[in-house]
Amino acid sequence: MNLKLSFYTLIFIVVLCTSVSCKEQVTFAEAQNLTVSEGFKNPLGFYDANPSFSWKLPVSEGVKSQSAYHLVVASSEDMLPDNPDLWDSGKQVTDQSVWVNYNGKPLQSRQKVYWQVKYWNQDENASEWSVINHFELGLLSNDDWKAQWIGLDTKAEGIIGSQGNIVHRPQYLRKGFELSNDVASARLYITAKGVFDVAINGEDISDDVMPPGYTPYKERIETITYDVSNLIESGQNTIGVELASGWHSSRLGWRKALWVDTETPKFLCQLEMTMKDGTKEMIVSDDSWKGTTNGPIRLSEIYDGETYDANLEMDGWTTNNFSDKDWSSVNTFPIENNVRLEPKRHTTVKSKIEVATQELIEKDGTVIFDLKQNMVGVPLLKVPMKKGETLKVRFAEMLSPDGTFYTDNYRTALSTNYYTASEDGVMEWMPKFTFHGFRYVELSGFDISAEPTKDWVTGLVQYSDFEENGTFTSSHEKLNQLQSNIVWGMRGNFFDIPTDCPQRDERMGWTGDAQVFGPTSIFNADVYKFWASWMQSVGESQYDSGGIPWVVPDVLFNDKVSAGWGDVCTIIPWKIYLRTGDKKILEENFETMKGWVAYHQNVSKDYISKMGGFADWLQPLPENGDNRGDTAHSLIGTAFFAHSADLTAKTANALGDKEAYEKYNALYENVAKAFENHFFEEGKVKDVSETQTSYLLALAFGLLSEEHKGNAKKHLLQKIAEADNHLRTGFLGTPLLSQVLDETGEIDLMYKLLFNETYPSWFYSINQGASTIWERWNSYSKDEGFNPQNMNSLNHYAYGAIGEWMYERIAGIASLEAGYKSIRIAPEPRQPLNSASASLNSPYGKVSSSWEIKDGIFSLNIVIPPNTTAKVVVPGSAESIEENDAIEKISTETEKTEFLVQPGNYTFKSKL
Ligand code: BGC
Repeated sequence: MNLKLSFYTLIFIVVLCTSVSCKEQVTFAEAQNLTVSEGFKNPLGFYDANPSFSWKLPVSEGVKSQSAYHLVVASSEDMLPDNPDLWDSGKQVTDQSVWVNYNGKPLQSRQKVYWQVKYWNQDENASEWSVINHFELGLLSNDDWKAQWIGLDTKAEGIIGSQGNIVHRPQYLRKGFELSNDVASARLYITAKGVFDVAINGEDISDDVMPPGYTPYKERIETITYDVSNLIESGQNTIGVELASGWHSSRLGWRKALWVDTETPKFLCQLEMTMKDGTKEMIVSDDSWKGTTNGPIRLSEIYDGETYDANLEMDGWTTNNFSDKDWSSVNTFPIENNVRLEPKRHTTVKSKIEVATQELIEKDGTVIFDLKQNMVGVPLLKVPMKKGETLKVRFAEMLSPDGTFYTDNYRTALSTNYYTASEDGVMEWMPKFTFHGFRYVELSGFDISAEPTKDWVTGLVQYSDFEENGTFTSSHEKLNQLQSNIVWGMRGNFFDIPTDCPQRDERMGWTGDAQVFGPTSIFNADVYKFWASWMQSVGESQYDSGGIPWVVPDVLFNDKVSAGWGDVCTIIPWKIYLRTGDKKILEENFETMKGWVAYHQNVSKDYISKMGGFADWLQPLPENGDNRGDTAHSLIGTAFFAHSADLTAKTANALGDKEAYEKYNALYENVAKAFENHFFEEGKVKDVSETQTSYLLALAFGLLSEEHKGNAKKHLLQKIAEADNHLRTGFLGTPLLSQVLDETGEIDLMYKLLFNETYPSWFYSINQGASTIWERWNSYSKDEGFNPQNMNSLNHYAYGAIGEWMYERIAGIASLEAGYKSIRIAPEPRQPLNSASASLNSPYGKVSSSWEIKDGIFSLNIVIPPNTTAKVVVPGSAESIEENDAIEKISTETEKTEFLVQPGNYTFKSKL
């Protein structure tokens, strides 16, 4: 009886707890939802000794928002959660669940740190503790290094490349060492002035591609940490390193790189071991290493490709069973004080996707492999060969109409690989220290008695190891192809740095291209770290004058700047802040912004800019026939001067610096006023040529007085109408088209421009067969062939900037408050679309918006993540399907209905 009673009492309590509020425990997010700083998950060799912590609340019925958190940080797992020795945040009553700054004991190089967090939900029910996450710091300062730079004098070999440049033969460096004790744990800290691959006891350490990556090497070189505990053996060990020129010592930038004549590739490593008895051992790069340039990789350059001779393979050279008695001693060089060695700030490049050959074309002893996708990376080759023969591997993005390779657009980049076979049979090989931009691979020199098959060539797509975290799709095939082209443009040009193009003799961090495409990339992929890291390079590359170089890292050193290019230093940090809500990106770049605005001011007179540059680069159908387009340079310069001052003011405001806010805001207003007086009369461009871009700049950057905006819009529409409702915008104008037409209520027209099939338009290149975004609106046409200029990349992401509007307005997901704490779902459905949907992994979790029109009924499905709220704007007079108090109708107009909604999944319907 007693037992029975207590059973029913228990049931009663459970029912009560689930129906009314009761202090029950709520679940925690899964382990992968905890990150440090710009989105790192349990990183090794981490760069940030002052990290921030972020977590996502679980998507569950009981969790709408966070009312408090408790975070604990310790130097050992056992101390958590009760005895954290590094930091105990205590219970913090706040809804902040992202970018919580560490505020504990100072952290040191090499330190391994453990952390976990719990939260209280909206009903003040506490969650369980999260799983324990961790990070381990790399070597944070030059003082941590006991090693020396080492290398052979490859300059002395005197190899001259195709452009008269010095070419450095790849080096093979090795060292054997003996341990008298067993290893408990081992870390290899490593980097190069060049690029490397490393093995211990015959085992490859990682699948990183061309580490350490590309930074302003005279300022900062990134170091990488590998956990090699399992590779070190007791007794005798061997470490072997392949070292090639990479970006450091290859020619770059149409001519020889600065370093080519001054510095040979070098390598630096420090193997730190903790032995089972607690003692420490260290092996460093020093004069005890031996090296040779007589290995199989004969040459390897970024632009020109790789040459490999299998006859020179040195079996077992990274194992103990190898004699290096014929190898040379290496030269040693001290670590410079003024070049900072810092742990890599973002992820290395990896081979991320495999693309199979789709079609074979045989021709005059060569065979062409068509992958049907323009991509960036290397081919994996499995080709039958005869001993002593050399396979030649060429690349192209397109074929000429006569079926031959179109390589004019590679310009001086030879982009060719050679492989010499050491035996008869099927070889397997891929180049290691170069990369190519291609859709077609041409082979010659293979065993001609063999019948070519598609599996001879597989494309390995290589890019910085980020996750794709957004999706966009619609009922329109060409719009979906455009989205695919945008994503492939990103994969192709995020090769450690954001590049203009991946194939010709450039592949550099062109700042203008980056500012144009950056905002769209953040929708499609988890690239905060990637941009934060490159922005650090931008700051480091800033000239003393405050000018920002054309390309970062700078290889041109010409002290030249360009309006709309240098402004990357204000635009990217601000856009990243809007998308993430993390103020760190603003703090880190604030000084650079101020320097750049001062530079703008110095090259202006009475606020009118004299800054030249590339202007509205590659504007289609320019009247002046110039790649720089028709929009006046001083108008562009002045507009960007105002815009950068405005973004610097906004940054100051976000950082709580009132004085700076007032200063930069006043400057912005003064420049805007001068801009209007100088270039406009009652909303119409005066004295300089009237172009779509001149109106777009004025309206997008808020440079006109209220009473003249309407007129300016009218003139813009007229310019578009004169162009038969087509765009006439280049790099700078194009990203502003959607913003301005949207803000001025001309969404129908924006749809028209986006769905135009004829030149110039996005679909035009798709109609000509594009599988990536092209550098020019008319890089190629079926009727006229290739654009006659050889500056004609077929993988240039800039015009992909339209992707931001596709997410924000076609599908309808936008951030109302920095970082999606408050979200706006406001899709703008128009013909010819019947449906569109997008999803985005926001800092708070997945947001999605998906709409469809069927039989005159518009329906919208949305997902709003925990700890956010959303304003939903539905066309027509709408109702939500779910009837609950998480949805509040806040306004009804004939054309639209607005709702305020809490986290959850909802469906809205309206009759159109
Ligand atoms: C690059 C660009 C860059 C431009 C500057 C070109 O060679 O490929 O995309 O922004 O130069 O005008």
